[in-house]
Amino acid sequence: MVKLFLSLTLLCSLSFAFDRSIWLRPKEIPSLPESPLTQQRVALGKLLFFDPRLSRDDTVSCASCHIPYYYWTDKVPKAVGIGGRKGTRNTPTIINAAYLRTFFWDARADSLEMQALGPVEAKAEMDLSPDRLVAKLRNIKGYREIFDKAYPGEGITKETIAKAIATFERTVVSKESPFDRWVKGDREAISEEAKEGYEIFISEGHCKSCHNGFNFTNESLNNIALGDSDPGAFILNKNPIWKGSFKTPTLRNVAETSPYFHDGSVHTLEEAVYICGNGGRYKDLKGRSPFFRDRGLSMTQVRKVVRFLETLTEERPKIEPPETFPQ
Ligand code: HEC
Ligand code: HEC
Repeated sequence: MVKLFLSLTLLCSLSFAFDRSIWLRPKEIPSLPESPLTQQRVALGKLLFFDPRLSRDDTVSCASCHIPYYYWTDKVPKAVGIGGRKGTRNTPTIINAAYLRTFFWDARADSLEMQALGPVEAKAEMDLSPDRLVAKLRNIKGYREIFDKAYPGEGITKETIAKAIATFERTVVSKESPFDRWVKGDREAISEEAKEGYEIFISEGHCKSCHNGFNFTNESLNNIALGDSDPGAFILNKNPIWKGSFKTPTLRNVAETSPYFHDGSVHTLEEAVYICGNGGRYKDLKGRSPFFRDRGLSMTQVRKVVRFLETLTEERPKIEPPETFPQ
């Protein structure tokens, strides 16, 4: 009997340990075989990411919206681009984009390389066509020299610009948070309330069914009944089941990246978690994802989950923009 009890507890603790290992960092940062990472390429990508000359009137860079200090987001409900033009969606972080397989809220791009020139061209973001971008950069002697070193024989093309930006983005990965220290065995790393919140997250709340793995997302597309008119993934795939579906976002640093959701309509983490734990904003909305059910989380439970999510915050990024740009 005692033996059985011991082996049962062993089994339970093993399965618990196994369970937590799903949150561990993958051993390597994925990279594309056709776009290997070198220090020169990372440095070039960083210049491009911060250079406002990638926009039509030299006012907006990638970093205008993906601001390092704000965990690479911008703190406004919907992105604001060139000439104050208002976009239609909230700016997601680029931290851990290296680990994603799909990009944008509707998952319309399959690689960071494919994604990189989208914002440059977008009318409400940087409003510069890829051809004009190439011509503009080719006119800058400093860039010609740096591209020749980073991509010998290839020069300045849409492809090398996209590859350099993507290579830089792959270096923007999250650092250790209190939660990571707890997963590795430091029992004191997070509070008791946060631990209770974690239990709700993985059990009653069923949050783990979408927010799982190191980056807290399985990238599934779901309609979570927010009830706005954005068609989401339906744009790409005209099957009505995708109406209002958006990609499950990472939850790393989420306590620091309000406002929330694709439309930036929610300002506090408490409200966002309440919505996610109670079947959406409009519970009866037709088209809600069958995996997104009303879990009936109480306000007390919601607060505990928030305490847990706060443990996913790493040290604030301290990335300085380049001091000078190529001339
Ligand atoms: C005007 C603000 C703005 C600018 C400038 C901007 N972005 Fe974004 N970025 C956004 C918004 C908004 C989205 C989400 C758009 C969507 O889903 O339709 C986004 C999405 C992304 C994503 C996808 C993240 C994910 O989780 O799917 C990446 C990567 C990214 N941007 C990188 C860049 C790069 C590189 C540049 C510069 C070439 C750039 N952004 C310029 C606002 C901006
Ligand atoms: C069926 C999949 C699914 C489940 C289950 C789920 N989520 Fe989400 N979550 C999403 C999707 C999809 C979004 C983005 C929806 C949008 O913007 O339209 C999201 C967004 C969020 C956000 C906002 C993040 C941001 O940066 O905007 C938070 C916070 C969040 N979820 C927490 C939770 C919690 C806590 C639970 C459990 C109570 C949970 N989610 C359950 C899919 C899910």
